[in-house]
Amino acid sequence: MSVHAEARKVTTHTLQEMKRAGERITMLTAYDYSLARLVDGGGVDVILVGDSASNVMAGQVTTVPITLDQMIYHAQCVQRAVDRALIVVDLPFGTYQGNSRQALESSIRIMKEAEAHAVKLEGGSEVVESIKRILTAGIPVMGHLGLTPQSIYKFGTYTVRAKEEEEAEKLLNDARLLEEAGCFALVLEKIPRDLAAKVASELSIPVIGIGAGPDVDGQVLVLHDMLGITQDFSPRFLRRYLDLAGAIDGAVRSYCDDVRSGDFPSEGESYSS
Ligand code: KIV
Repeated sequence: MSVHAEARKVTTHTLQEMKRAGERITMLTAYDYSLARLVDGGGVDVILVGDSASNVMAGQVTTVPITLDQMIYHAQCVQRAVDRALIVVDLPFGTYQGNSRQALESSIRIMKEAEAHAVKLEGGSEVVESIKRILTAGIPVMGHLGLTPQSIYKFGTYTVRAKEEEEAEKLLNDARLLEEAGCFALVLEKIPRDLAAKVASELSIPVIGIGAGPDVDGQVLVLHDMLGITQDFSPRFLRRYLDLAGAIDGAVRSYCDDVRSGDFPSEGESYSS
């Protein structure tokens, strides 16, 4: 086990040190108390209260509809569970793009009401002013480039981004801008591995990939995908570590059979007078 994996609390500085020491950073999403407790107990470095809650918790087709109040609710549930991991919370769509004051106010609500440790937002040059304003309040910001699901209606698909030279060049410039603006880390989603490698080697802040190949400073997955709870989402980058959907289906069926047959509850599962 690495020195940093044993450290009690992960901070943004821990992540910088991990990058310098060549230790890979682990990050997973969580949205509720019970699973956040298990994820933190498992030793993950960063817990992202992602706006993917819109999909996996609320059953929405995109991340666009989730509100700031709903993100704060999920973040509060996670915060109560976590002892060690750094908690990063997504600023949802429409709560930071209006202007930098709106971005600051949304971030302050997340920090104050959920006691989070940092916020994450999507985009490059378009959101740099907002990032700088949030940082003036001492709130750490994580960037997110590549596939940015909040812009799904602009791009129209969830396919790999920045395959063309022009888009790759913009991504590289945006990554530099985010580092200059003061982001403590950057998520790169669904881009070619060589481009991700180039960004990670050029930037001094940690670069965490999802569908961005192995040559970055850490990896993030959506918890419900890697546990095999979601079944209708199978991108190439996703490794499933469990078939929880299958296990839950089996348990529910056994319970129904036992209740229907009268096998549950047994004598030992009942109280005597
Ligand atoms: O919302 C989310 O889960 C994310 C990850 C995919 C990085 O932003």
